[in-house]
Amino acid sequence: MAFYLRQNRSWLLLAPVFLVFSRCAPTSVVNESTGKVDGALVYKKHCVSCHGKGGDRGLSNAANLKKSTLRSSEIRKTILYGTENGMSAYEEVITNNEELNALVKHVKSLQED
Ligand code: HEC
Repeated sequence: MAFYLRQNRSWLLLAPVFLVFSRCAPTSVVNESTGKVDGALVYKKHCVSCHGKGGDRGLSNAANLKKSTLRSSEIRKTILYGTENGMSAYEEVITNNEELNALVKHVKSLQED
């Protein structure tokens, strides 16, 4: 019984450590050196799986963002509301305006011309 309690208490002590690591480390979209929201990190978190780092991975028929000619306002709308052909809406996922702005800028920068 005593052994069981001691074990239990050690887990309680570790819980906050796990919480801090699981919440902050892998999901942060803030650039460590500038302390600002980094559009490339927002992109990495939500978009890279289909579009790839450079924008031309094309998984699940994802549009080639290098070849895309959308204007910033259209990119913004596509992210927020999605499309009928497989791009989902991020309106309720990316709710922070600073993150959205940085992301739009990054996607625009992937375009080749
Ligand atoms: C599940 C895969 C998937 C993810 C994740 C995804 N997309 Fe897409 N995206 C697509 C598909 C598929 C299309 C093509 C939709 C179409 O043709 O209507 C697309 C199209 C787009 C377009 C339109 C390009 C053009 O010129 O028409 C933009 C911009 C875009 N995605 C940006 C993003 C951003 C930014 C994210 C991250 C927030 C993201 N996507 C996440 C699948 C994805």
